[in-house]
Amino acid sequence: MAKDNSENLHSPSTDATYTLGRTSHETTRLIEQSRIYGESTQRLCKRAGITAGMRVLEIGSGAGDVALMLAELVGQDGQIVGVDVNPVILETARQRATEAGIRNVEFIAGDARGLAFSDKFDAIVGRFVLMYMADPGEAFAKLVTHLNPGGIIAFQEPEYTLYPALLHPDTPLMNQLIKWILGAFEHSGAHLDMGIGLYRAFVDAGLPLPTMHLESPIGAAETWAGYRYMATIFQSLLPLLKKYGLATAEQVDVDTLAARLRREVLASKRPFFLPLHITAHAVLPT
Ligand SMILES: C[S@@+](CC[C@H](N)C(=O)[O-])C[C@H]1O[C@@H](n2cnc3c(N)ncnc32)[C@H](O)[C@@H]1O
Repeated sequence: MAKDNSENLHSPSTDATYTLGRTSHETTRLIEQSRIYGESTQRLCKRAGITAGMRVLEIGSGAGDVALMLAELVGQDGQIVGVDVNPVILETARQRATEAGIRNVEFIAGDARGLAFSDKFDAIVGRFVLMYMADPGEAFAKLVTHLNPGGIIAFQEPEYTLYPALLHPDTPLMNQLIKWILGAFEHSGAHLDMGIGLYRAFVDAGLPLPTMHLESPIGAAETWAGYRYMATIFQSLLPLLKKYGLATAEQVDVDTLAARLRREVLASKRPFFLPLHITAHAVLPT
């Protein structure tokens, strides 16, 4: 049973601004993002050992996609508690759980680092959330206090510092998009190297060394969903790009972005990499 965490709704000021904003478009983008990254998140959770009957804490729930996937994985005998610092987006998560007839999931608003629970968990999972926390190692140290012996830690975070390796003279649009993404996340204070930084976070928290994988959806087909997904990312990033003088709405031209990207990929014969991400999981000693 979750205790009231409403006093923890505000993060310390040293945390990053949520780069992609708090709009209804961003909620929709998160759901679309999950269609692209969901399969690898599920693989991570299975690989980490999350299975039927487990009680799992999921942090940074957003629109609820990871929690809903976990609810299916643990089955009716298991239980999921999802937490997000943004109480508004949790209304969408709760509604989606109700519509899907999923009853073994509960969402609570609060800062994941300041939670109090009367019962422990078998696993803690997070996707694209540590990158916004000032000190991910400290966050891990706090989170694992909620785990049973033998508990599982499984996280998936983006790795933007490898993105510039993809710059190429034949792909000016892709090069520009990568520079804008890096600029926007850097200005917001998010960790650009959170994927690789997962390792340091496990070490700093005194956890067992994690097993890690690097993944990225890559596309070149004419019908690939990734072009449109990139346009939705840029719609969310636009206010920040404008605020920091990185790009104007005319330069980004969200409405034609997917079509221009598709054209460049087909002409250059160089596939487009969606943001790379790294997964890491470990199991506490019993
Ligand atoms: C990029 S979204 C990812 C949402 C979801 N994990 C997914 O992959 O679909 C990051 C979420 O983490 C939440 N968040 C950021 N810092 C948090 C914190 N300290 N505690 C709880 N949630 C946090 C944000 O409000 C946001 O909804």
